[in-house]
Amino acid sequence: MFIIASDHGGLELKELVKTFLEERQVAVRDLGTGNSESVDYPDFGEKVARAVSRGEAEKGILICGTGIGMSIVANKFPGVRAALINDEFTARMCKEHNNANIIVMGGRVLAPEVARKMVAAWLDTAFEGGRHQRRLDKIAQIEQEVQKGQI
Ligand code: RB5
Repeated sequence: MFIIASDHGGLELKELVKTFLEERQVAVRDLGTGNSESVDYPDFGEKVARAVSRGEAEKGILICGTGIGMSIVANKFPGVRAALINDEFTARMCKEHNNANIIVMGGRVLAPEVARKMVAAWLDTAFEGGRHQRRLDKIAQIEQEVQKGQI
């Protein structure tokens, strides 16, 4: 199960991304926001990031105006590898090299057709493992040290 959320700045793109996912038969749960009223992106970023961090959702998608705020929030959560992606190349690489479990996009940055191609690239790319797994293990190690206050 995939989960998705946005603030008001990402609402329009969120609706489009949900349609792309449905077309691809990917089950997705929408955690809001549900209208164009101004909201605070951390409230929605934390819902998705917490669920991915706890293993309650396989993957997440977060969208705000630029994607910046949502990516800052999501990467606070253990085990979350949230990637702010800008184009098809970064969409592919965030899976191939970083095995991103959350993608973050800017609703005020991306044209719908570009966003569609990016989501497809992320879905269709496999994690390469090998030296990239070694690097992810190092990130997990850093995360553990930070959690223990060893910074
Ligand atoms: C909301 O106006 C905007 O600040 C938010 O969507 C996002 O771009 C923050 O990083």
